[in-house]
Order: sequence, then C-alpha cells, then structure tokens
Amino acid sequence: MFSKKIQKALNDQIQLEEQSSRIYMAMASWCEANGYAGAAGFLFMHSDEERMHMTKLLGYVNDKGGHALLQALEMPHNDFSSLQHVFEEILRHEELVSASINNIYDLTLKEKDYTTGQFLQWYIMEQIEEESLFRSVLDKFKLAGDQKGGLFHIDKELASMANAPSAKE
Ligand code: FEO
Repeated sequence: MFSKKIQKALNDQIQLEEQSSRIYMAMASWCEANGYAGAAGFLFMHSDEERMHMTKLLGYVNDKGGHALLQALEMPHNDFSSLQHVFEEILRHEELVSASINNIYDLTLKEKDYTTGQFLQWYIMEQIEEESLFRSVLDKFKLAGDQKGGLFHIDKELASMANAPSAKE
C-alpha cells in the first residue's frame, strides 16, 4: 500500500534533499570565494551527494506507482562569519534532516507501509554517518583553537576527505 500521506511525506523529503544540495552548493561557493579550496571541494562533493539522495527518493516514489514532484526551494544563506560557522550550520541542518527521515519512518509504521520503511533504512544509516562526519569536522575546530595555521590544516584535511573513497559513497 502506497498511501497519499506517505507519498506526500516522501515528496516533501525530495524537496528537503534538493534544498540541502543548494545549501551546500552556496556554502561551497562561499568557501571558494574566501580561499578555502579544500572545504569548497568537500562541500561541492557533498552537494552532489544530496542530489543523489533526492534522485533516489524520486525514483522510489515513481517505481511505487506514485508521482515524484519537485517543489519550490528557498534562497540559501550565501554569507557566513567564518569557516566554523559554515560547519555549525551544516550540523544543525543535518539534525533537521534526520528528524524528518525519522518522522517519515514513524509514519510508515503507523500506515503499515513496511516496504517504504525498509527503503528508509538506508537514509537512517546515512544520517547517522553524516551527523558523525560533521561532528568530527567541528571537533577539528575545537582542537585547532586559536592556533596559527589551524584553519589552513583543517582546509587541507577537508581536501583529503573530499578525495577519500569513503567520502564519496
Ligand atoms: Fe541527505 Fe545530508 O542529508
């Protein structure tokens, strides 16, 4: 059974994933314009990942006989006070995405749509990984403190994370 309620919730999730892709694209652009090439590469890659999250949902909705819809997006923030501020905003946003996925999962249980519940397992695990990834980046800022060159090293590390195979999954 593929209820209208579930379909609506998945379509709203498509919108949120597409919005996430835009948010990270705007952040990547800010990083590039401000000399953080490593962070920019990392966030451009992450923006692509969010687009993949969106298209995966879109395919699922259509495969189930529904109609995946694209909706209006908001203008993302284009200005940030610091590189750390960028990553604080990302973690806050990912927590919101996790809550949204969990709400849809909850709805699948109420509606007895176990197929969609199973499909959402991938997203639940992905959110655990993403939150953990961004917390680990924020930890780097704490460790660097006010150290001279701290931001330079964080940017370099983000560049290598963008190139690591695990970051591209
Ligand atoms: Fe698709 Fe980062 O949540």
